Amino acid sequence: MGKARLPHGYPQFHHRAEGSVIWDVDGNRYIDLMCSWGPIILGHRHPEVEKAASAQLALGDTLNGPSRQAVELAELLSNRAGHDWAMFMKNGTDATTVAVTVARAATGKQQVLVAQGAYHGSAPWCTPNLTGVTNFERQAIAYFAYNDIDSVLQAIASHDDDVAAIVVTPFRHDAGFDQEMPTPEFVRALRDIATRRGIVLILDEVRAGFRLSAGGSWSSFGVEPDLAAWGKALGNGYPIAAVTGIEALRDGSERIFSTGSYWLSAVPMAAAVATLNVLEQVDGPAQMELAGNRLRDGIARIAESHGVVVRQTGPSQMPYLSFVGDTSGRLLNDFAIASLREGVYLHPRHNWFLSTAHTSESIDSALEAIDRAFVTLEPYVDQVEAAKPR
Ligand SMILES: Cc1ncc(COP(=O)(O)O)c(C=O)c1O
Repeated sequence: MGKARLPHGYPQFHHRAEGSVIWDVDGNRYIDLMCSWGPIILGHRHPEVEKAASAQLALGDTLNGPSRQAVELAELLSNRAGHDWAMFMKNGTDATTVAVTVARAATGKQQVLVAQGAYHGSAPWCTPNLTGVTNFERQAIAYFAYNDIDSVLQAIASHDDDVAAIVVTPFRHDAGFDQEMPTPEFVRALRDIATRRGIVLILDEVRAGFRLSAGGSWSSFGVEPDLAAWGKALGNGYPIAAVTGIEALRDGSERIFSTGSYWLSAVPMAAAVATLNVLEQVDGPAQMELAGNRLRDGIARIAESHGVVVRQTGPSQMPYLSFVGDTSGRLLNDFAIASLREGVYLHPRHNWFLSTAHTSESIDSALEAIDRAFVTLEPYVDQVEAAKPR
């Protein structure tokens, strides 16, 4: 689900951003409901994050090894995650790939189970586009259905005793589909099965991390994964990702070879320390939930006033909207383009993201624009209604 596949009319190049607002290179201004596809969690250019990043920049960024920031961040993050150690890298794909490698190193097993349709990054083992990928690279990947524990058991059974890891996202957020929260039974059964069979449970927090909870996204279920992959929001836009893990997997994490020229750069780590601190000070997840509820309630009211039946799924901090009866997705696409014209940047096939910079005023302005966007849909809504089976 790339940015290259944006609906026609979307800006391809961006100029600047502040708080919850972005400007494209043509000077158009939008309220930003995509938050750079997740990384911006405190709003663009948050003063405390910028201050911490500039202070470190004045000392140096890419050094001969890690800075003090690495130690501070490792302690802070592993503590938040309920884990014992942390490793750092740049992108979410690096983090999920390292997590899978640690699991294989620690267990001596090969197979990795992932949910059908879930996105874990762009490396050959997980990319949704198989162009240029050999069969060999996918041989040790098996699939289950999200929220379906029987399918997990079947996948394990068909790979005997060779399952190293189960990789799963905190909720189902596959692009182009309504989102689905996990059932508590699914979450607890996964934890139980992984523990009993010596399989490493990896939670891919790259997209959801720090929006649902200050720590692990499944802590509300009382469930902690063995490894967690973090990315996106960790540095409020600065390039940093991480893997955290339990003590028993420390040895595996130390034995694998994984590195990159910029993985230890200090500025993003300083930004990440500041981001985590601010998120805690302002109770970020609760703030984003409030803003998200305001947006969701407003959209429900607006849709009803225009006679449109919508579905709003997923957590309110990461909402997704679809139109009932819109099987081709045309209505959703047109809605996204109309919203863009009215000054709100959102996406028709990918979940949106809230940040703590989404104040009531910015949500209300977004809602006014969305109301105007709905007006332009009325002719299509009549067509969708007429096409419905009676
Ligand atoms: C759940 C999940 N995992 C991994 C990734 C890959 O992250 P990145 O694009 O930073 O490599 C993404 C990116 O969208 C994601 O949503």
